[in-house]
Amino acid sequence: MNSDYSAVDIQAETERLHGFLKHVGWSVPECAGIAPKTLRIRELARQKRAVILGHSYVAPEVIFGVADHRGDSLGLSVIARDTDADVIVFCGVRFMGETAKIIAPSRTVLLPAPNAGCSLSESITAEDVRRFRHANPDHSIVCYVNTSAAVKAECDACCTSANALAVVEAAPSSRIFFLPDGRMAANLAPMTAKTIKGYTGNCIVHDCIRPEHVAALREKAGPGACVMVHTESPPEIVAMADVAGGTGDMMKAVKSGRWNTFVVITEDGMTDRFRIEFPEYRIFALGTVCPHMKMIGLDQVLQVLESPRPDQVVEIDEQVRLGALKAIERMFELTGKGKDDSKPHSNTGDVAASN
Ligand code: 13P
Ligand code: SF4
Repeated sequence: MNSDYSAVDIQAETERLHGFLKHVGWSVPECAGIAPKTLRIRELARQKRAVILGHSYVAPEVIFGVADHRGDSLGLSVIARDTDADVIVFCGVRFMGETAKIIAPSRTVLLPAPNAGCSLSESITAEDVRRFRHANPDHSIVCYVNTSAAVKAECDACCTSANALAVVEAAPSSRIFFLPDGRMAANLAPMTAKTIKGYTGNCIVHDCIRPEHVAALREKAGPGACVMVHTESPPEIVAMADVAGGTGDMMKAVKSGRWNTFVVITEDGMTDRFRIEFPEYRIFALGTVCPHMKMIGLDQVLQVLESPRPDQVVEIDEQVRLGALKAIERMFELTGKGKDDSKPHSNTGDVAASN
């Protein structure tokens, strides 16, 4: 790419990038190679009053190179709700961009990779939920945030991995239909006196994990390591964990100071974050990647800021949006608005804590 930046600017940007990316194997020349692009993206974001949000699973050159905030699903929804930016560039999968648009309808929400889906989100339709409700009117229906806007609009409350149990406990009925993640439903069941019926969706990333993979890593890490498992994983994997939860819970565990060695059982972007932000700790990981999250690179972020295509602009039918908003607002009401659960890291300095 042609660079309009001075050698001094490029040098400073290279050093900034290398400060992060050296921990995940990037050389100085590799950082110099992307410096004009990250400078241009940040300049365009400033000009367009855009905030760039990045889920922790997205490539490190995006979430450390250009994102204003990086974090988990809950933390990023809170930022989307509270931002005064005109444009939200959501570096994440489609349901995340939809969630931002549901919460912040007056903002332009842009998806760098609009075809980045999610096996959970795609496993269930609004019609499936309507059918269930018709046959089971006594159930409260709780949806994981990994769902389309149309599905959320049919549910009583939304939740994320950071607050699923709190939302289930606060739901009015003692019978819960939890969708679409059957694994998360099974993991929640022993934690509550309520009856939980789960749907059959699963995450293609966490569902491939086998007990022998975790056992081998624990062995390699040695005694005293903390095994952290995402609750999208099967129950037999969660049973092997010292800490089970979402990526925000994992970040809290790493920041707690209780351990210095971690086995990270989730998508590799999270592992990269730990290696970059806590280079003093020993991190062991599976090397599992979400193909959807990895569709988002610097080229896509630059292109969407320069000239978004119509398919990259998130639009939601207003009736659907209002229905989905009710489920999301219910989540914020039931869980104290999520402000204490999950504070994403901020590159702009306006959020004090990080997750
Ligand atoms: P959290 O970051 O909220 O734990 O979600 C993980 C995930 O799979 C997002 O798709
Ligand atoms: Fe969906 Fe799993 Fe990818 Fe998360 S990691 S976006 S749940 S497929």
